[in-house]
Parts: sequence; structure tokens; C-alpha cells
Amino acid sequence: MDRIKLHDRYFNLFIPNEKIEAAIRQTAMRINSDYSESGSVPVFLSVLNGSFMFTASLMKYITFPCELSFVKLSSYCGTSSTGQVKQLIGVSDSLKGRRVIIVEDIVDSGKTITDMYALLQAQEVEDIKVCTLFLKPAAYKGSVRIDYHAMEIGNEFIVGFGLDYDQLGRQYPDIYIVE
Ligand code: IMP
Ligand code: MG
Repeated sequence: MDRIKLHDRYFNLFIPNEKIEAAIRQTAMRINSDYSESGSVPVFLSVLNGSFMFTASLMKYITFPCELSFVKLSSYCGTSSTGQVKQLIGVSDSLKGRRVIIVEDIVDSGKTITDMYALLQAQEVEDIKVCTLFLKPAAYKGSVRIDYHAMEIGNEFIVGFGLDYDQLGRQYPDIYIVE
């Protein structure tokens, strides 16, 4: 399909699946070489929903012993006056002292990854690395280091390969760009 309609918008084919898979394989190889030395078993934390497809592709190329958990960042109404308080859900075991690799679909302004990073730091993990499928360098305002990114894009809005437009479009194997 070259063009899809989601809700009220049209999207055009932008990055074919083969290109995405090749970039993911390169990223996995970089991670493999960084984690080749012995150390404690790392745990990949895949941030749902957007990173489900990226995670499935990435993990097939990871060659060292590792764990995988799917997590979600949820807002909840705290009693503090600071507004939105975020909570990490889906982690059953303690992450204290663990080496963590966060797997994200896309880093845009960096707000999400900054929240995620802070929540993990609070759990006294040994080490945090960030791995994202897409990075928007021109939009990124965070201070968290993005250790691995498979692809860079401009400030355009994309869908497919896990990414959504108001919950639609996650299932497509290719990436589409808003018209
Ligand atoms: P940030 O917090 O501004 O870095 O935005 C990250 C989140 O916004 C991602 O996890 C996505 O859910 C969403 N997002 C940002 N850019 C896009 C895009 O181009 N397509 C789909 N979702 C996006
Ligand atoms: Mg989203």
C-alpha cells in the first residue's frame, strides 16, 4: 500500500520495511558488541504500546543472555500539586542493581524518555541505556543520552511499525508519513 487513511488524515509510504529491518539489525549489532563483556544479565524494558514491533525485530538479533519485560508509563492522579505524576507499570521484579536497556518507538521532544529515565534512577538500577527506533534530533530537548537509535527523521509525523496516529496504524510493516 502506498497511501493509507487513518481517522481524518492521509499518509504516504515513507520507509519500506526492508530499510527499517536493516537499520534495526545494525543497531542490534552495536548493542551486542557493547554487551559482549561479562557482567550482570541486562534487562530490556520495552515501552508499550509503540515499541512492540521494534522490540520483536530487535530481540531476534540480540546474542547475549538477557531478560525482556514490557512496561507502560501511566499517569495517575497523585496528591501532589505538581500536576501529572508518572508511574511505571508492568515490572514485577525489583530492578535494583540491574543493567537496563530502555526500548522506545520514537524520541521526539524527549519528555517521555526523561520521565522514564527518572523513574528507573529512583529504583537504583546499576546502569541505564536508551535504545529507540526513531529519533527526531531537531525536536529533542532532553538531556538524557540516547545511546542507540536505528533511524533519524525530521519533525514530520509518522505512523506504522508500532507507531500510531490516535491509536490507529500500529500494524503496518512500513512507515508512512502524514500528507
Ligand atoms: P516525546 O515525549 O515528545 O519524546 O514523544 C514521544 C512519544 O510521542 C512517543 O512515544 C510517541 O507515542 C509519540 N510520538 C512522537 N512523535 C511521533 C510520530 O511521529 N508518530 C507517532 N507517535 C509519535
Ligand atoms: Mg503514541
